[in-house]
Amino acid sequence: MESTELFEQLDFRENPLYETIIDELLEQQYSIIDNFFSAKEILALRQSLLHKYEDDCFKKSAIGNRVNENIITEIRGDFILWLNETYTNDAENIFFSKINDLVNYLNKTCFLGILSKEFHYALYPKGKYYQRHLDTFQNDDRRKLSFVCYLNDEHWTTANNGGELVIYTHNNGKETTIPVTALPGRVVIFESQVLEHEVKPVLQGERLSITGWLKTR
Ligand code: OGA
Ligand code: MN
Repeated sequence: MESTELFEQLDFRENPLYETIIDELLEQQYSIIDNFFSAKEILALRQSLLHKYEDDCFKKSAIGNRVNENIITEIRGDFILWLNETYTNDAENIFFSKINDLVNYLNKTCFLGILSKEFHYALYPKGKYYQRHLDTFQNDDRRKLSFVCYLNDEHWTTANNGGELVIYTHNNGKETTIPVTALPGRVVIFESQVLEHEVKPVLQGERLSITGWLKTR
């Protein structure tokens, strides 16, 4: 056994960042993390997204999964590009290695049984939004955790740019809304089958993110 492997096994409950994520997920079904990726990693992912968008690789998003696709812009107005982990550039490589590290940790410590994942870049032009919804489909309930990481420019604010994520949660039986500014580098993880959420209209600029799901079975 390599010494690093041994270290990992002895140390697998000692990642404070992951432990905070787990605690928050257990307590409130969502977690917001501002230092999951470095500023340099975020910039590289942002450039990768913009590059592929300019190359016309993105397509209009749909509702439902790929078996049940309808383009309904009134519900959802973003453009997306699915990522294939086998064909990644340097920025996406680092992204996936961090995601895989988190998944391994969750599976080891929480027995979550994450077996697969899917991620896409998303770009919301000015005026676009995503109405309140749940991230699970009638014919596919494998999505367990939703993961969003914002790739906006450093001056992004809700007041100027809009596009905030709103999470709907319950507090003592009363519905509460959690507004989340789409700050560059911010990661939001939440229970796909539990928390409804929406993306408010973008007021100015383009709202960029990488979004995905950790799936069971
Ligand atoms: C989604 C979604 C939230 C966000 O793509 O399903 O809800 O903040 N995204 O981009
Ligand atoms: Mn969603």
